[in-house]
Amino acid sequence: MAGFASPALLPLVSLVLLLRSSAAQHTLGAGSSLSVEDHERPFLVSPDATFSCGFLPAVHVDNAFYFSVWFTAAKNRTAVWTANPGAPVNGRASRVSFGHDGVLALADANGTTVWDSKTGGNKRLAVSLLDAGNLLITDPEDSTGVAAWQSFDWPTDTLLPSQTLSKDKKLIAGYYTLYYDNDNVLRLLYDGPEIASIYWPDPDLGVFGSGRTNYNSSRVGALDDAGVFLSSDNLRAEATDLGVAGAKRRLTVEQDGNLRMYSLDAAGGWTVTWAALKQPCSVHGLCGKNAICEYQPSLRCSCAPGYERVDRQDWTKGCNPTFTANCSGAVAPERFKFVKVAYTDFYGYDLGFNQSVTFQYCKSICLNTCSCIAFSYRTDGQGRCYPKGLLFNGYTSPAFAGSIYLKVPRGLNASAPTPSAGLDCNHNGSGAAIVPPYAYTYGAPSSHTNWSYVFAFAAALGFLELLLFFVAMAWWFLSGHESIPFPSSLEASGYRLILGTQFRRFTYRELKNATGNFNEELGRGGSGIVYRGVLDKATVVAVKKLTNVVQGEEEFWAEMTVFGRINHMNLVRIWGFCSEGKHKLLVYEYVENGSLDMHLFGDDVGKVLAWSERFKIALGAARGLAYLHHECLEWVIHCDVKPENILLTRDLDPKISDFGLAKLSGRKAIGDGVQLSHMRGTTGYIAPEWALSLPVDAKVDVYSYGIVLLEILIGSRISDQTTNGDRLEMCQIAQALKRVVATGEVVSLLDSRLDGQFNPRQAMEMVKLSLACMQERSNRPTMDDISKALTACDDEDEHPAYFR
Ligand SMILES: *[C@@H]1O[C@H](CO)[C@@H](O)[C@H](O)[C@H]1NC(C)=O
Ligand SMILES: *[C@@H]1O[C@H](CO)[C@@H](O)[C@H](O)[C@H]1NC(C)=O
Ligand SMILES: *[C@@H]1O[C@H](CO)[C@@H](O)[C@H](O)[C@H]1NC(C)=O
Ligand SMILES: *[C@@H]1O[C@H](CO)[C@@H](O)[C@H](O)[C@H]1NC(C)=O
Ligand SMILES: *[C@@H]1O[C@H](CO)[C@@H](O)[C@H](O)[C@H]1NC(C)=O
Ligand SMILES: *[C@@H]1O[C@H](CO)[C@@H](O)[C@H](O)[C@H]1NC(C)=O
Ligand SMILES: *[C@@H]1O[C@H](CO)[C@@H](O)[C@H](O)[C@H]1NC(C)=O
Ligand SMILES: *[C@@H]1O[C@H](CO)[C@@H](O)[C@H](O)[C@H]1NC(C)=O
Ligand SMILES: *[C@@H]1O[C@H](CO)[C@@H](O)[C@H](O)[C@H]1NC(C)=O
Ligand SMILES: *[C@@H]1O[C@H](CO)[C@@H](O)[C@H](O)[C@H]1NC(C)=O
Repeated sequence: MAGFASPALLPLVSLVLLLRSSAAQHTLGAGSSLSVEDHERPFLVSPDATFSCGFLPAVHVDNAFYFSVWFTAAKNRTAVWTANPGAPVNGRASRVSFGHDGVLALADANGTTVWDSKTGGNKRLAVSLLDAGNLLITDPEDSTGVAAWQSFDWPTDTLLPSQTLSKDKKLIAGYYTLYYDNDNVLRLLYDGPEIASIYWPDPDLGVFGSGRTNYNSSRVGALDDAGVFLSSDNLRAEATDLGVAGAKRRLTVEQDGNLRMYSLDAAGGWTVTWAALKQPCSVHGLCGKNAICEYQPSLRCSCAPGYERVDRQDWTKGCNPTFTANCSGAVAPERFKFVKVAYTDFYGYDLGFNQSVTFQYCKSICLNTCSCIAFSYRTDGQGRCYPKGLLFNGYTSPAFAGSIYLKVPRGLNASAPTPSAGLDCNHNGSGAAIVPPYAYTYGAPSSHTNWSYVFAFAAALGFLELLLFFVAMAWWFLSGHESIPFPSSLEASGYRLILGTQFRRFTYRELKNATGNFNEELGRGGSGIVYRGVLDKATVVAVKKLTNVVQGEEEFWAEMTVFGRINHMNLVRIWGFCSEGKHKLLVYEYVENGSLDMHLFGDDVGKVLAWSERFKIALGAARGLAYLHHECLEWVIHCDVKPENILLTRDLDPKISDFGLAKLSGRKAIGDGVQLSHMRGTTGYIAPEWALSLPVDAKVDVYSYGIVLLEILIGSRISDQTTNGDRLEMCQIAQALKRVVATGEVVSLLDSRLDGQFNPRQAMEMVKLSLACMQERSNRPTMDDISKALTACDDEDEHPAYFR
């Protein structure tokens, strides 16, 4: 209990932190350490304060930190060296320490050492940060001055003035590497999951064409304070602010594959003073296979005509053909045509090369070569022809004197780049911003019960809840309640604190028993398997066992904090949870009649949903979502609305389930939207703005709901809709809906199994709402609007006016 006095100590703690931070050191001896909770305080600051070193919050990750060195004066702290690149440590209980054994080590929340300097054996070692930005471990009494370890020998993505790049050192960012190749040339390499290729110096120009040489085998490069980067292969790069005295510079390989030199300006921002690639799309691998990179005015990717995206979330996976090519048989060439994409080329994977040939000859080569899927023909007067076997590293540039001609089946309608899910068929928006590769969230540690953790929760929830907690505890002691085991750890009281009294914590044994050792599976999804269970020999429940423990932890916490507070007739109630080591389980209300998809898309003729049931489901789901969006204590986005997540009771009343994907956010986030740090949801139901990496708000649920609404009307999956075997794009579907609204011909759209039995006014309202939901985000209605609009035509229910 004593711990709950801690909030009162807060001002004192911050004062102590403040005092300590003002006395930052540039050298520390054995036994020094810094915990991640103190990340406001640097571990070390260089003597003239140019550099600091300590914990740096990860940019695209919540609650995660790097141990890094950065320029103290930079507004946005940019790491120039990182101990744990790509593998941030938890924002609670992680720690960096310089031990008595002379080892500098970084430990994650669970105590695992994620990085160490591998020094040691010398008890006199000290760690210091130099004005050049070098983090150094040395023996102060060793006159040779040789460092036991230094960060300059282990660069991450950045080179600082006075730091040398040599044959054993590389700068790495994501899939991109700057390194000295074994022919002595400094190069940029894309080393992706499918292909690897070098894109700098320009492969078309070659080593000497780019002003380099491969004759000097020294393989060293260095940046100086004046802004010149010199490499032994004759590369000389000069900053635009060449010679400016005292400029603070860095040379960095970035996640977009470019190599840039920067200077720190007076306002603490970074100015680019040199870049290796002038045309960003010359970088390889940005858009994946069969995709084209375009810079206009920012980087965009799109699929080549006749190809469609593999993964809406990840451009590096590229695009797949929408057709199957069959080039066997004598008449094969007649089955193909070519689609031209001007000013565009795909680098590499040539099946051959011919110079001074005509366009027709080049075309015939590709037509008569089965493995040829496109050809590049350059119109610079030299008649160069490159038949292609694979399409990687595609780019469009007005400067490119040539076109790519894609070989597609004659019947394919692929005259323009395939638009992604947008309403306007002539929309340019088939592209999407590049999603940073290191985008994920970090869960809080659970196996590691710790005060700081419970305390953080208590602080977050505030005194009101503390009060509730004490009341609940008092009631609990007085009532001598038995069924809830006394929380043996503070973690348990943390849970109780969040969830109040309605909620139960179960032991794993209890749930194992209740589910008969997990023998009756009800269903499975991305987050876990659901089992049927019986509590107290009477109540049937659904027990969800979270399978993926790492990811499950995150979802678990999301579901805990959300579910404990939510109670609405169209939302699945959660009765409790279990958390024991790796066992994470949720106990839900059991909903008898399965999920909507089984009723809507199933083949069982006897089970066809009647019109009144469909309308009731549409209305109930809208009310449930409206409650989540507008009425909850906390504002909740579901993020995975689909028929699988709409469960039906015995009376076919809908209940929305699976809030595991929901992201909590405070009310303040309504205006600006919430940036989800990684993609969630299900293809076919996710709003286009997700693919564009825009901040996500409740309108993503509105979009998904619109798709579900349409599926309720037509009785089949939208993603299965085709004409002549080609998948319909969302824009075509929207055009069809507009026609229905204009002509009033709603019958043609409806599920034929309804046999004409429907309410025309309700159906038309649903078509209009569905169409509105697919609009561009700002034009979509809210779930509240939808719920009201549907309620307004619900009163007809008692006197149904059926057609035919
Ligand atoms: C809690 O974390 C602190 C550091 O944040 C650590 O010193 C302490 O040992 C931890 N307590 C337990 C019980 O693991
Ligand atoms: C500690 O956590 C990391 C991930 O955060 C994990 O890879 C590692 O296995 C854990 N170690 C132990 C001993 O639990
Ligand atoms: C090779 O490069 C190094 C470093 O740039 C330079 O000092 C040396 O003179 C060069 N050697 C030749 C033969 O050019
Ligand atoms: C810091 O980063 C933010 C967002 O990335 C940007 O808007 C802002 O201009 C940056 N500030 C400086 C001083 O560079
Ligand atoms: C390809 O076309 C030939 C000739 O028309 C035909 O015999 C063969 O079955 C086709 N193969 C496939 C996979 O469609
Ligand atoms: C084109 O190149 C191929 C080899 O790649 C060669 O066999 C053929 O004769 C060349 N055609 C012309 C017209 O040069
Ligand atoms: C191909 O698409 C265009 C517009 O995208 C359309 O006008 C044309 O009728 C389509 N052709 C076929 C054969 O579907
Ligand atoms: C589409 O692209 C054209 C030029 O490529 C541009 O003029 C137009 O504004 C773009 N439209 C949209 C909606 O971005
Ligand atoms: C486990 O289930 C059996 C019946 O299947 C019951 O007799 C027993 O009491 C249960 N044990 C616990 C701990 O609930
Ligand atoms: C599910 O609903 C149907 C009505 O569509 C009903 O006939 C059936 O008995 C229900 N199934 C269960 C398990 O309650």
